This record gives sequence, C-alpha cells and structure tokens, in this order.
Amino acid sequence: MSAIPIEVKLPSTPYRVWVGDNLQQNIIVALKDLSPSSLMLVTDSNVAPLHAVAFIDLIKQVAPAKTMSVPAGENSKNLDQLSRLYDFALTEPALDRDSVVVALGGGMVGDLAGFFAATLMRGVRLVQIPTSLLAMLDSSVGGKTAVNHARGKNMIGAFHQPSSVFCDINVLQTLPDRELRSAISEAIKCALLGQMALFTWLENSVDMLLRRDPNALRHCVTTCVQFKGAIVEKDERETGKERILLNLGHTLGHAVETLMGGKMLHGEAIAIGLLAAMRVSAKHAALPVPAIKRIENLIRKAGFDPTIPAALKDEDILKVISADKKRAANGTIKFVVCPRLGHAVALDVKLDAQLIKDMRG
Ligand SMILES: NC(=O)c1ccc[n+]([C@@H]2O[C@H](COP(=O)([O-])OP(=O)(O)OC[C@H]3O[C@@H](n4cnc5c(N)ncnc54)[C@H](O)[C@@H]3O)[C@@H](O)[C@H]2O)c1
Repeated sequence: MSAIPIEVKLPSTPYRVWVGDNLQQNIIVALKDLSPSSLMLVTDSNVAPLHAVAFIDLIKQVAPAKTMSVPAGENSKNLDQLSRLYDFALTEPALDRDSVVVALGGGMVGDLAGFFAATLMRGVRLVQIPTSLLAMLDSSVGGKTAVNHARGKNMIGAFHQPSSVFCDINVLQTLPDRELRSAISEAIKCALLGQMALFTWLENSVDMLLRRDPNALRHCVTTCVQFKGAIVEKDERETGKERILLNLGHTLGHAVETLMGGKMLHGEAIAIGLLAAMRVSAKHAALPVPAIKRIENLIRKAGFDPTIPAALKDEDILKVISADKKRAANGTIKFVVCPRLGHAVALDVKLDAQLIKDMRG
C-alpha cells in the first residue's frame, strides 16, 4: 500500500497528512526537514508498550529524543499531566525552541501533547502520529489542542497546527474493537456533512471497516482527512461559518457523554447525537423523514444503539447543553442541521424543553 499525502493548505502553516502503512521513511524525511535540536515523544500507557519502542528507535535517527508516557484515558487530559510534561521537558537534557514534540496516541494524547507544544516556550513544533481511528480521521488534523477543566471539556486550549501528521493504518490493528467502532460515528458525521459518496460507501462497507480491512481503513481515513482539511482551510479558527459544521451531532452527543460519566465512549454518544440532529433537521430544516430512517439504519449497522439512554432526564440534558461553550446569549443555540443528506447548515434554535423532546423523536 503506498502512502497518500494530503495537503492542508493553510496560508501561515501549510502541512501534509500522510495516510498509509509503513510510513517510517516518510516520518524520517519529514522530521529531518524540520531540523529539530531534540525531540520529545508523548504517548500513553496503553500505546507505549505496543508501539512506542518502534517509533522512538525511528525518531532517534533524526535527533536526540526523550519519551514521556501519561496514564491512558481522558482523565489524563488535565493540568496535572500538563505540568508533568513541562517539568520533564525542562529537565536536562532540556527541550529548546527548536525542539519538536511528537504526539503518539489517540485524541487524548494528541490534544494534551498539542497544548503542551503550543505553550512550551510560547510554542514549539508538533508532529502528530495518531494511533486511534478517531485521532486519524478527526482530531489530529485541524490544530485544536486542549486540556479539560472541572467546569468542562477542552476549556483550556489553543489552536496549534501540526507540522506533519502520519496516519499509519498498521497501528490500528491493536486498537480495541469498541474504540474502533466508536470512531465510525465521526466518519458518518463527515459523510452527512458533505460526502455522500462516503455515506453510500459506509452503507455497503462498514463491515469491512469493523473487520479492519486495511484498504477500507485507508479509504475512510483518507476521505475524512481530505474533507476535514478542506473545512479547516476555509475556517481555521472557527470564526467563520464552516468549522462549526463539524459539531453536527455534538450538541446532544457531548451532553450524553458528560451525563453518562465515562460509561459511554465519545463516538457512541455522537451516534446518539447524530440521529437526534436528524430529527431536529426534519423539524427545522425540512429534512425528508425517510432520510432519518436511512441514517438510523447505517448507525445501527455500525453497531451503535442510537437511543438516548432512558436514565437521562430531559431537564438534565437541557442543563448540560445550556452550559455548552457554543450556546448563544439569547436563549438559542447554534445547532447544526442537515436540510438534505450531504449538506449542513448551522441554525439558531431555541434552547428549551421542546428541543430535547424533538431530539428524542
Ligand atoms: N482536537 C480535536 O479536534 C478533537 C476532535 C475530536 C476529539 N478530540 C479529543 O480526542 C479524545 C478522544 O480520542 P480517542 O477516542 O482517540 O481517545 P483516547 O486517546 O483516549 O484513545 C482511546 C483508547 O485507545 C487506546 N489506544 C489508542 N491507540 C491505540 C492503539 N493503536 N492500540 C491500542 N490502544 C490504543 C488509548 O490508550 C485509549 O485507551 C478526546 O479527548 C476528545 O476531546 C479532539
């Protein structure tokens, strides 16, 4: 399988996302181009024993490298682990402004190491080597980095674009089944936003993805990265009308994820949010009702249960959505809807009990 380069053409920080397998040579060439004084690889305790040694040996061919592993899991995306990273980076042999941070892991590591790179000495360069499907097709591209705060997810963060991203499909063979499936909801989201060919492909080929067929994984990652890259090019910092569309399914999805307190993975909650967003689309944007069934079928075929858990009360969902960073001051919320499959817009929708009822359908 050859490696596919995807260009993200940002005016100030253009970069390349490589998708393929055996990307060692691509990694070496790209790192040498950056001429780093030193490297720091950040990973987590699950990925470290599986993949870190191979990548450390590789990057040491370019410059002196040190490694830090944080405990796996969303709980590590916090200021304590960030502080440990600064301490380690500034301990001899210390990093300097010409060093490069290499994030090897899922979206948690990418966000944490990304924010670390964004803030260390006012910003050092970052290379992303995503190891989860979610990180490959979504979080490693676009430059959003953050840690969580007790008051909410991703509350402390920065935009910091990577210098390069390497999606090595091989590493997905060790990803737990549930994590692999979970990411497929982000691929469905991407299809709904503007990739109808991907939508039809998913309807026919989602089983191949779940079986980790390398060609299917590569096709899915490539299509989603191309799509996300194009959106980021138009609206790098979510100040325009494009990037907000990536929140399709996330209004309810984030609320369900929060209220389920770690019992549900991000993508599992997004699957629920996507179907809910389609119901709201039917009411507010005239999405034809048969389209909702088509989406529900795909979500179920991917193995998700798109029902809002019965234990979650409407008033609790409303409370969490009201605390969303993207809420508007006048009692409305920017809600991403699909007037038709493959096309999305953000509408101001009244944030009240009726909205939750509409989402439940
Ligand atoms: N920056 C963005 O634009 C953006 C977008 C979406 C999500 N995110 C963030 O991404 C995070 C979720 O990402 P995630 O789903 O990758 O979670 P994660 O990083 O926690 O990874 C999920 C699990 O899989 C393990 N893992 C990862 N790769 C593996 C591999 N190859 N083999 C075996 N185990 C592996 C991890 O150790 C972890 O236990 C959240 O923090 C979310 O906020 C960021």
